[in-house]
Amino acid sequence: GIPKFVKIVEVGPRDGLQNEKNIVPTAVKIELIHRLASTGLSVIEATSFVSPKWVPQLADAKDVMKEVRKLEGIRLPVLTPNLKGFEAAIAAGAREIAVFASASESFSKSNINCSIEESLIRYRAVARAAKEHSIPVRGYVSCVVGCPVEGPIAPSKVAYVAKELHDMECFEISLGDTIGVGTPGTVIPMLLAVMAVVPTEKLAVHFHDTYGQSLSNILVSLQMGISTVDSSVSGLGGCPYAKGASGNVATEDVVYMMNGIGVKTNVDLGRLMQAGDFISKHLGRPSGSKTAIALNRV
Ligand code: HMG
Ligand code: MG
Repeated sequence: GIPKFVKIVEVGPRDGLQNEKNIVPTAVKIELIHRLASTGLSVIEATSFVSPKWVPQLADAKDVMKEVRKLEGIRLPVLTPNLKGFEAAIAAGAREIAVFASASESFSKSNINCSIEESLIRYRAVARAAKEHSIPVRGYVSCVVGCPVEGPIAPSKVAYVAKELHDMECFEISLGDTIGVGTPGTVIPMLLAVMAVVPTEKLAVHFHDTYGQSLSNILVSLQMGISTVDSSVSGLGGCPYAKGASGNVATEDVVYMMNGIGVKTNVDLGRLMQAGDFISKHLGRPSGSKTAIALNRV
């Protein structure tokens, strides 16, 4: 059956903002994270310690981290693509990190400039260093149903990368439909393949909403026993190296659905909408959350 509690991993400050062309001031990012922290969310992905040449928007990772690390009772993971990023992250006070691999060879090359196997070698080194510092590591698999270059991705490829991440002791593996092409028709076979090699309780789902399929995909994932869902306030987001990929499923929409089906999240929808309002106003565009738009009208 459906889990009684779902842990939401808010990725707005990272996945949501990384694709914004105009640089968002550091102070706005910090205020967004503070506002999100006041909603009851227990995990907020704060930023990435990646190359500023690749993702200029997150070049202020150190300054964001320096401020938000003071928040208590909340987990603030950051993305680290290599040991250089890991060292910078812990120097800035990060207490949790995430590595990000891909099930598609082409996407691996365009996103992190190396093959899948090379990335796994890097991530093993990062995971070993993290273990020495008692830093928990989350692992992402991108392109779990489709790749912008290669098209459909075989479930066996996703299972392979997920198992490698699990073997390097990632405590959680988030399965990313980077370009949002999945439907329950492709997501279910992919999840079955991964669940054959990684325990279900270690899995998270990460849907981009390009084709409007996220909530259906989340619902089938819950029915299969997954209880961790990634989402982004106001549906912000997109990957700079995945052309045409739109934002993540909106956190407001996920919380609205969870409330509706009686699944606890501990997230206050009203406060969440205020955080969404804050960042949408700053970006100068309407919210990408249908729930936020509808509730703001009544
Ligand atoms: P590269 O150019 O191959 O790196 O990039 P390199 O090792 O050859 O180094 C080149 C330069 O980058 C050097 O500087 C390094 O010092 C510097 P230079 O000597 O030229 O001045 N450098 C760094 N600087 C800061 N922090 C670092 C770092 N590493 C090297 N950590 C690299 C390889 C992986 C660094 C690059 O490709 C990169 O940063 N990629 C990140 C791309 C990214 O962030 N993508 C978005 C996140 S993934 C995503 O959104 C998907 C997800 O949401 C799930 C889903 O939706 O499916 C997670
Ligand atoms: Mg993503």
